[in-house]
Amino acid sequence: MSVHSEFKKVTTKVLLDMKARGEKISMLTAYDYTMATIIDQAGMEIILVGDSASNVMAGNATTLPITLDQMIYHAQCVVRGAKRAHVVVDLPFGSYQASKEEAIRSAMRILKESGADSVKMEGGEEIIESVKGIVNAGVPVMGHLGLMPQSINQYGSYALRAKEDAEAQKLINDAKLLEAAGCYSLVLEKIPAALAKKVAESVHIPVIGIGAGNGVDGQVLVMHDMLGLNQGFSPKFLRRYANLFEVMTEALQHYISDVKSGDFPNENESY
Ligand code: KIV
Repeated sequence: MSVHSEFKKVTTKVLLDMKARGEKISMLTAYDYTMATIIDQAGMEIILVGDSASNVMAGNATTLPITLDQMIYHAQCVVRGAKRAHVVVDLPFGSYQASKEEAIRSAMRILKESGADSVKMEGGEEIIESVKGIVNAGVPVMGHLGLMPQSINQYGSYALRAKEDAEAQKLINDAKLLEAAGCYSLVLEKIPAALAKKVAESVHIPVIGIGAGNGVDGQVLVMHDMLGLNQGFSPKFLRRYANLFEVMTEALQHYISDVKSGDFPNENESY
């Protein structure tokens, strides 16, 4: 089903209205033009140009190595394919932590050079002045709390976050601070479902979960994971909607065998 022509562009106001109406928000990552076109035409409300590009596109073990220039390149490709979906782009590690001024400059570069709609950044109280500065500069910000992959070297693992009371309380406080700082939305990654529900009920902005249960306002997954393009990554929260690794392997092996047997190309495929 293509819903492409039936709807207007998804703005931050559309997303806030969806939360107010109790309508769930669908969000998925994309990093290139072709996939963004398919995802947009399928009717997804938000496309995230995630710094998970560092893992799934570049083959790095973490999100840390990807640069601002590389994120802008991926965002440019996605924006060309996303006519309706809201496009949000991760500010990569090292592009916003050093100072408020650097954060504002990085966020403005993303919108100016890619045409994306907003930026996402990991952190709460510790980045709040930067969030305010970016919002005041006219760039909508999506927050990201819970498991924050850019802090993997501090955590030491990708395990569930905020199990203990102190971390859960800080997370609730951070969510409220991000809302007060002007964030239009918030991602919660890999935290207990009851805590995520509590956060979603204590703020007016849409809360999008990944591994955060069903009590939030929407869900996000990494496209390669949900389409089964990669193997060997099966966290409990992941639902695979296809096994494209197998589908593609079969098609590729069919092609190899047709080339080797001389079956491809046939007369109709020749000039
Ligand atoms: O980079 C990313 O893909 C993300 C999602 C996991 C939310 O931040």
